[in-house]
Order: sequence, then structure tokens, then C-alpha cells
Amino acid sequence: MGDLRGRENFSSGLAVFFATLGSALGLGNIWKFPYLTGESGGGAFLLVYLLSVVFIGIPVMICEFYIGRKTRKNAVGAFNKLKANPAWKIIGYMGIISAYFIMFFYSCVAGWVYCYMFKALKGDFVSITPRSAEIQFSSAVVGPWVPLFWQFVVLTVVAIILICGIRKGIERVTKTLLPVLFVLIIICDIRAVTLPGAQAGLNFLFNIDFARLSPGVILTALGLAFFKLSLGMGTMITYASYFTDDNNLILTPVKVAASDTIVSMLAGIAIFPAVFSFGLEPGAGPGLLFMTIPLVFSQIPLGSVLLIAFFFLTSIAATTAMLSLVEVPVAFFSEEKKIPRTLSVVFNCLFIMVIGALATLSADGAGLLGKVLIFGKTFFDLFDFTSSNILLPLGGLLIALFVGHQVRKEDFRAELSNYGRLRMDGAIGFIRFVIRWVTPILLVVVFLNSIGLI
Ligand code: PFF
Repeated sequence: MGDLRGRENFSSGLAVFFATLGSALGLGNIWKFPYLTGESGGGAFLLVYLLSVVFIGIPVMICEFYIGRKTRKNAVGAFNKLKANPAWKIIGYMGIISAYFIMFFYSCVAGWVYCYMFKALKGDFVSITPRSAEIQFSSAVVGPWVPLFWQFVVLTVVAIILICGIRKGIERVTKTLLPVLFVLIIICDIRAVTLPGAQAGLNFLFNIDFARLSPGVILTALGLAFFKLSLGMGTMITYASYFTDDNNLILTPVKVAASDTIVSMLAGIAIFPAVFSFGLEPGAGPGLLFMTIPLVFSQIPLGSVLLIAFFFLTSIAATTAMLSLVEVPVAFFSEEKKIPRTLSVVFNCLFIMVIGALATLSADGAGLLGKVLIFGKTFFDLFDFTSSNILLPLGGLLIALFVGHQVRKEDFRAELSNYGRLRMDGAIGFIRFVIRWVTPILLVVVFLNSIGLI
């Protein structure tokens, strides 16, 4: 069934799994997760992160899946179809704004990753020193033309895939590339853990030190779960609108969250043993990915091949995440405003390029606009902060409140059990309780923290 109720859809459960996982996997796994885990108490942070995934991430994903598949509409249209009070459409509009804000800076960082893969292929890192690593980083970041060029390349790749559609574009790319990502990351892991002194890196990552757990750290873990699993901004509503009637809306989020967490840990295992083995600084922020990694990999046997593999797998992860981000406004404009899909893709990618240039030119406080501050933040930081710290948690809270308190129990049960075909009564009752009470309360805590009230 290529076209369901007049709409394109994914072809199978496996396709749905890969597409959803493709959205979750991204720069979050390869940079943010290992770095935050290492900095915030290793294993103890990991434990809090896992609890956040279970009590916030998975329930919110189930809510988004419910809304998307039930209505088979984009993030705004879904609320019309549910005949909800029009005020709830704010969730969809906020989602579109979040998708843009994330894309403005995410496409910039993805551009650096593409640029680094190209540099690795050219052999630019062969005899790299700490000083030349810095020069390479600033040439890719400060630009202005180099980072703008790569941001344009990234957006062109994303546009081409999206123009190909749901099955021929998103499904084909995620199904082909995600297995490649897994293989490459495992190769990098094997090399990293067999380096002399690797154990110190593994200890750094996994040692459980409860003394380092503070309220701030707990809230960081909650926020990371959101960004990681692409929640709170209609991405999963939009993707679920392409699911088939027999996809399991409870098991898919569990499998996606588990696989995503495994990839994050594999990324940490690829990075930290190598960093420690060379006595480098593990908490180096963005530089960890763009300065430390080339430096480390250039010094180990097979390093230049691994470096290409590493930036290639990071490019895959960033690209598949961006497909889901851009699909949110693309689906909105093509369905609600009746703009042909191709035009909607081109228009959205151009818009992201134009405004995203502000992020690129201000990144790291170093470019042409690096000194322009709005509310004390550069454009880059402002887009990042507003989306990750305000819009996503707020969107997630509203989604949980909507599904938990506005959707009728029978409708929820019917959709989640695939209209009685799945026997999961106990699980559905438990999930509904979590969505109604546990998730919103936890989210209020995250949100108050993100706006600095607690
Ligand atoms: N989950 C992606 C990552 O971890 O890099 C980022 C992301 C993608 C956030 C899609 C939000 C989203 F809707």
C-alpha cells in the first residue's frame, strides 16, 4: 500500500523503526551525550538519563505517535482533525518554530562535519599538531565563505532527499545508511578500546559517582533526553502520520530509545579511551569533536581511515536527523497551505539557509557576527537556547497534557492497541497513568529550571 488515505506512508515496521531512529540519532549522540555524561558524573548521570528516557522520553514519543497516526496530518493539521480547542494548535506552531530554530544552528554544525569529512578525505589531518588543529577548526568555522558553503551543501543534500519523498527519500536513505553507521561506530570502538591506556577513558565514562549528581545535573539529563529523542516539536507527530495501521506505537518508541542510547554509549566508547590514551582534555566542548578527534586519530595506526569513517558516520547521523526537522514545516506548508511538496522543500531549505547564515556567521563568537549579541547571546546560542531549553520542554509538556487529559480513554486505548489487534491492556493503562501525571510533573520541573526559576 503505497498511498494510505491519499497520503504517502512508510512501507513496513522496519522502515518506521529506521526513520524514527534516524531522527533521534544525530550530533546529540556523538558530541553532546558523551561530553555531558563524562562531565556530569559518568554512570550516575547515565542512570538519571535512562530514567528520563523511560518516564518522559518514551511516554511523550507515544503521545506524538498517537496524535500523528490517528490523524495522519502534519503537526498543526492534526489538532484540527482531532477537533481540539483551536488553542491546542499552538503545539503545532511552536513545533514549526522549534524545527526552524534547531535547523538554523544544526545545519551550521552539520556543515562543519561535512567539511571535516572532506578534509579527512583530502588527508589534511595527516601530520596535524595542536596548533594546526586550531587553525583547521577556525578555517572551517570562522569563514565566512567556507562554513556558508558547507551549510549550503548540507541543505542541498537534505532538500534532494526530501524531494524524493517519504519512501524513496527518507525511508531509502535511513534504511541504507543507519546500518552503515552502526558498523562504522563499532569499528571505531574496537580501535579505541584496544589503545594503551583506554581503561581510563572507560572509567571516566562509566564510573558511578553519586556525589556528582546535583539538581542541575539531573535536569540536564532530562533536557538531553528531549533533544536526543527529537521530542516536543512535532517531528514524531509528522513521522507517525506516515506510519501504517499495524505499526506498534508502544514497542517502537522503546526500541528507538534503546537503540539511540546504545549508539550514544558507543560514541562515548569511541571517543574517551582515545582522548585519555593521549592525555588530552575530555571536557573540551565543541572542540572535542573538531579538534581533539582529528588530533588523536591522526596518531593511531589506521587513524586516517578511521577519521574518515568517524566523520562519515557523524554526517549520516546529522543528515537523517535534519530530514525529520525539515519535514515538519514541509508537511505543514504542503498540506495546510497546499504548496506542492517540491516547492515547499525548496522554499524551506532556502529560508533555513538565509536565517541559518546568521548562526553560521556568529558561531563560536568568532565570525563576522560573533560580537552581535541579542539578550546577551549570539544568534547561534540564541537559536540553540530558545529551542532546546524553552520550546522543546514546553512543547513536550503541552503534548503530554493534551493526550493525557483531552483525549478520551477509549480513543487512546483503541489507537494504541491497533483497534484491538494488539493485546496490551495492562501496558496501555499504565502508560496512560504515566502520561497523565508522572511525565507532566517531571516536565514542569525541567521547564522551570530551563527558564531559571528553580
Ligand atoms: N535528535 C537529534 C540529535 O540528537 O542530534 C536532534 C534533533 C532532531 C532534535 C530532530 C529535534 C528534532 F526534532
